[in-house]
Amino acid sequence: MTTTDGGPENWWRHGVVYQVYVRSFADGNGDGTGDIAGLRSKLGYLSELGVDALWINPWYSSPLKDGGYDVADYRAIDERFGTTEEVEIFIEEAHTHGIKVIADLVPNHTSDQHRWFQEALDAAPGDPARDRYIFQRGKGADGSEPPSNWAAVFGGSAWEQVADGEWYLHLFDPSQPDLNWENEEVRAEFDSIFRFWLDRGIDGFRIDVAHGLVKDLTFPDVAQKAAILESERTADHPHWDRDGVHEINRRWRAVLDEYEDRMMVAEAWVAADRLPLYLRPDEYHQSFNFDLLDTDWDAPSFAEVIDKSVRAAEDVGAASTWVLSNHDVMRHATRYGLPNGTKWRRWPMTGPHEVLDESAGFQRARAAALITLSLPGSTYIYQGEELGLPEVWDLPQDVLDDPTWERSGHTEKGRDGCRVPIPWEKDGPSFGFGTGDPWIPQPARFGSMSVAVQTQDTSSSLSLYRTAIALRRQHLAMVSDFQLIDMGSDVLAYERGDVLVVVNMGSDSMPMPEGDILLASHVNPPGLLAADSAVWIRQ
Ligand code: NOJ
Repeated sequence: MTTTDGGPENWWRHGVVYQVYVRSFADGNGDGTGDIAGLRSKLGYLSELGVDALWINPWYSSPLKDGGYDVADYRAIDERFGTTEEVEIFIEEAHTHGIKVIADLVPNHTSDQHRWFQEALDAAPGDPARDRYIFQRGKGADGSEPPSNWAAVFGGSAWEQVADGEWYLHLFDPSQPDLNWENEEVRAEFDSIFRFWLDRGIDGFRIDVAHGLVKDLTFPDVAQKAAILESERTADHPHWDRDGVHEINRRWRAVLDEYEDRMMVAEAWVAADRLPLYLRPDEYHQSFNFDLLDTDWDAPSFAEVIDKSVRAAEDVGAASTWVLSNHDVMRHATRYGLPNGTKWRRWPMTGPHEVLDESAGFQRARAAALITLSLPGSTYIYQGEELGLPEVWDLPQDVLDDPTWERSGHTEKGRDGCRVPIPWEKDGPSFGFGTGDPWIPQPARFGSMSVAVQTQDTSSSLSLYRTAIALRRQHLAMVSDFQLIDMGSDVLAYERGDVLVVVNMGSDSMPMPEGDILLASHVNPPGLLAADSAVWIRQ
C-alpha cells in the first residue's frame, strides 16, 4: 500500500491536535483580545493536557472582518496578537514542550486591505494588477448584472461591483476577494509564503478552503447555490472541488518536502469519494474528516461513519482525522443536547435551543471524547471542548461579529457562540481570560466551568480529557487495528488492539462488559454502563 506520508511513526498520523482560536484563548496584554503572549503563558497547560500539536487559527495582519481569515499581510502577525519575533519564540517554546505548531494558511482569498487588492482597485480593467484576482465584466448591455449567479457562503451574491463597473469575485465576504490561481505570480507568492513560515520552524499548515482555489473562468450559472458550511457537495461544480486544485496541492507538497517532517492538512468539504484524491502520495498528508459533525447521536450512524472513514483512509495509506467541533460549528456539548435530526447549522434566531437538553448534551460530549480519542488516526480538539463548554446561544445582537450576521440580513446569528473566550479562573474580570472586557462577552456560568475549577475536580471534563489523552498515548496511539463489534443497535463498540471501547447510546443502562476498566466517561452503577456513557476496557 502506498503511504502518503512516509510511515506510521509520523506525528500527525496519531497526534492529538489542539485548535487554538487565538483571539479567544488567552489575553496577555489586557486589551480584550487573545494574543501570542497569552498563548505562551498557557503552554504549560497544553503540555499537561498532553496534546501533540497546536493548530493556530490565522494570526496574520488582518482587519479581522472574518476573524483573521481575511489576511492583509501573510508575513506579518497582527499587532493585536503580537509580532513575528514573538511567534518565533512561541514556536521554539512549544517545541521545548514537545508540541508541534500548525499554522493556518488562507490561499483562496486575501483581505481587501491586502496590498495586491489595493493595487488592483487602483489599476484599470485589463491591468496585470487585476489579474491576481478575479475581475470580470458584468452581464447585460451595460454590465450592471453580476457575471454569474454564484452565491457567497456568508450570504448574498459572490460578486461585488467596483467604481469603474467591473465586478470581483468573493466566495465569502466582499472584504475577502478571491485570488486567481491561474496567475503564476499568485502561485509563486504562496511558495514563498510557505517557505517563510517553514524557515521559522512551523511544522505544518492547515489549508483553508483547500477545494475552492480553482474556478471555471467561463463563470456558468449554478443550478444549486452550494453552501460550503452546509456540506452540500455537488459534482462538477464551477468553483468547488475542481480537478485543477490537485496540481496546486502537488506544488505545495514539493515545497514542504524540501523540509523534514512537515505536514499539511486540508479543509476540503468535498464528497466522500473525492476526498481520497486530496490524499494521494504527492498531495496532502491529511484532510479533515467532517463526517462526525453531521452524525446524530445514534449508534448505527456513528458505526457506519467511523467504519467508512477508517477504511477510506486506509485505502489511500493515510490516517483518518476526527473532529467534533471547531470555530465554524455549534459546540458539540450543545449539539448533542438537541433532538436528532435538528438542523443546527444555520444558527437560527429561535428554535432549537427551546428543545435543548443541556445535561444530555454534556454527558454525551464526555462519552464522545472517549470515542474520538480512541479511534485510529489523529484527533482534533477545539479549545474549550476539554472543559465541556456549550455554545453560547444568547449573545446580544449588538456584539455579533461574524459576517454571516450582516450578510444574512440578520436571519442567522453566525459562529460567535462557539468563539467565546476561554474561562481560566472561577472569578475576576473575564474569568482569567485577561484583565479587561473580552472582545465578546462570556456568560456568568463560564466561571464554574473554568480551568481552575475543573483542575481541582477529578471528575471534571478536563480531568477526563487529561486522563484519556495520557491513556491513549500508552495504549492506543500506535495501534492501527480497528474492528467494529456488534453489541446491538443501541451500542457503538469496537476493538483497538487489547482495548475494547463500548458506548451506550441508548436510553437505558446496559451490563458492563467484562474486563479491566481503564477509563469511563461517568460514574456507573455497579455492574452497569449508564446511558449516554462510554468505557475503555482492557481485555
Ligand atoms: C473556513 C474557515 O474555517 C472559516 O472560519 C472561514 O470563514 C472561511 N474558511 C473563509 O476563509
